Amino acid sequence: MGIVESRTLLGVKPTLSLRNISKTYGAVQALTSVSVDFFRGCVHGIVGENGAGKSTLMKVLTGAVSPDNGEYILDGQRILINHPREAQAHGISIVHQELNLFPHRTIAENIFAGRELVKGGRLQIDAMWRRTAEVLKQLEIDLDPDAPVGRLSIASQQMIEIARSVAFDASVLIFDEPTATLAEDDCRILFSLIRKLRASGLVIIYISHRMAEIFDLCDEVTVIKDGRKALSVPTADVDPEQLVSAMIGRRLDEYYPARRGPQSPARSVLKIVGGSGQNLSDINLELRGGEVTGVFGLKGSGRSELAYALWGSPGFREGVVTLDGCPLALTSAGHAMRAGIGFVPEDRKSEGLALELPLCENLLLAKRVLSGWLGGPDPAGAVATQAVFDRVAFAPADPKAPVSSLSGGNQQKVVLSKWLLVDAQVLILAEPTRGVDVGAKAAIYGLLRKLADEGRAILVLSSELPEVLGISDRVLVMRDGTLIAEFPPDTAESEILLKAGGKPYA
Ligand SMILES: Nc1ncnc2c1ncn2[C@@H]1O[C@H](COP(=O)(O)OP(=O)(O)OP(=O)(O)O)[C@@H](O)[C@H]1O
Ligand SMILES: [Mg+2]
Repeated sequence: MGIVESRTLLGVKPTLSLRNISKTYGAVQALTSVSVDFFRGCVHGIVGENGAGKSTLMKVLTGAVSPDNGEYILDGQRILINHPREAQAHGISIVHQELNLFPHRTIAENIFAGRELVKGGRLQIDAMWRRTAEVLKQLEIDLDPDAPVGRLSIASQQMIEIARSVAFDASVLIFDEPTATLAEDDCRILFSLIRKLRASGLVIIYISHRMAEIFDLCDEVTVIKDGRKALSVPTADVDPEQLVSAMIGRRLDEYYPARRGPQSPARSVLKIVGGSGQNLSDINLELRGGEVTGVFGLKGSGRSELAYALWGSPGFREGVVTLDGCPLALTSAGHAMRAGIGFVPEDRKSEGLALELPLCENLLLAKRVLSGWLGGPDPAGAVATQAVFDRVAFAPADPKAPVSSLSGGNQQKVVLSKWLLVDAQVLILAEPTRGVDVGAKAAIYGLLRKLADEGRAILVLSSELPEVLGISDRVLVMRDGTLIAEFPPDTAESEILLKAGGKPYA
C-alpha cells in the first residue's frame, strides 16, 4: 500500500498545508497559487529548474517575504506568518545554505544567539550550555559546546545550524540545497541526521537539484515549474525521467551527450609527469585533444588540489609539465592563462565571477588580463561576444545586468564563455554543475562534448560519480593525493567507489 492510500485509510491529516500561495516581485510572478501538504515523519522534496520559485516558497513559509495571497494551516489551525519570528514561534525553521553563524563565538553561544536565556536580567550561561550539550547528544554530534564555531568544517557548521533549530523545538525543518557545499562523506552524515529527525516526527522539506538525493531521501516530492505546482507525488510512484520531464516540461531524451567512441590516438596536449605538491604526490596525467577526462575522488583525495595545481595556483612543487611537447612553467594563474588553459572553479561565485559586475564585463575578464587592456569598450566588439553566446546557447536579456542576478546554470555559461572568448584549448572544470538545474546541466554536458569534439582537452573533476561516468571518455580515480586507476566510462559505479575508498550511497 502506498503512502497516500495508507494515510487516507488511517485518516491522517496534513501537519502543514500551504494553500494558494502567490507571490510577485515587481513584474516577476514568482509563485502562482501553490498548494502543498506536508506530513510529519516525512521528508518532502521540492524540485524545479533554477528560478522556478522553490526558495521563494520557502521564504514565504519562513516569513522572510510576505505572500500576496494564500494561507497556512498548521495542525488544523489557520496561522499567520508575517515575520520570521512568527514562523519560528510556530516551530518552522530553515537551515540556510549560506550559514549564518558567528565564527568567534562558541557552539552554545551560536545556538542561543539572539534568543539567549535570561532570568532576572542575567544570562543563564549554564542552562544554555546544558541545553546545547543535550541537543548535540540527541543528534549524536560529537562536538564540545565550548568549541568556537569558526574552527569547524562547513559540514559541522551546518550541523550546528540544525542543532539550533532542534534546540528551539522546530517541528518543520527546511533544507534549501544543503549539499551544494558539502563533500560526499559529509552528505552521508547529513542524510543520516535528516533520517533521525524524520524518525523523531518532524516535517522535513528538502530542496535539491540532485535527483539521486531526492530518490534516496524523500518520501514525497513536489515539482515547481514556472512558479506553479506541476506535480506532488510519493517518490515511489515516479521515476527520475518523469520527474525531470515535469520539471522542464518536456522529455529530456539525452541527458548525457553521445560519445564518439574510440578514436585514433588523440593528440597529447597537457602532460604532467611526477607532479607533487600540497596533498599531491606522483601525479601522472595526460590530457588529450578531443577527449573529456573525468577525475573522481572523495573529499580529501586531493581532487581540489589537483584542479588548482593545473591552474598554477599553487602549481606543482615538483614534476614536469609539458604543453604540446614543450616544457611549461605552470606556477601562476597568469602562466596557465597564457598557455591557453581555462579554469572553471568549484566555487564560481567567489572565484569564477565578479558577481557585482555586469555579465558583459565578466565575459571580458580573461581577455582583459591576456591582452593587458584594462578599460573601455571591447575593441573586438560585440560580434565576438555574440558568437560566443550563440555557441553556449545563451541569450542574456540584459548584458548589463549584474551576473549575480543570473541562475546558477547561466552563471556557469558566462564562466565558460569567458574562456571561449580567448579560445582556451585546455579546460579544467571543478564541480561544473554544482547548484545547476537539470535542464542547464544537460546543456553544459552537451557543450563540453562539443568543445572536446572541436579538439580541446577537457578535464572534469567532480564528486558526483554519475556525472563523471556520464560525460567522460575515461575516468581517473583519485585517492590519497594521487591518481590510482583509470576506468572506461561503462564501469559500474560500485567498482569505482570501492577504488576511491568510499561506501555505496545511503
Ligand atoms: N528578491 C527578488 N526580487 C526580484 N525577483 C526575485 C527575487 N527573488 C527571486 N526572484 C525571482 O523569482 C523567481 C523565483 O526565484 P527563486 O529564487 O524562488 O527560484 P529557485 O527555484 O529557488 O531557483 P534556484 O534553483 O536557482 O535556487 C525567479 O524568477 C527569480 O529571478
Ligand atoms: Mg533557490
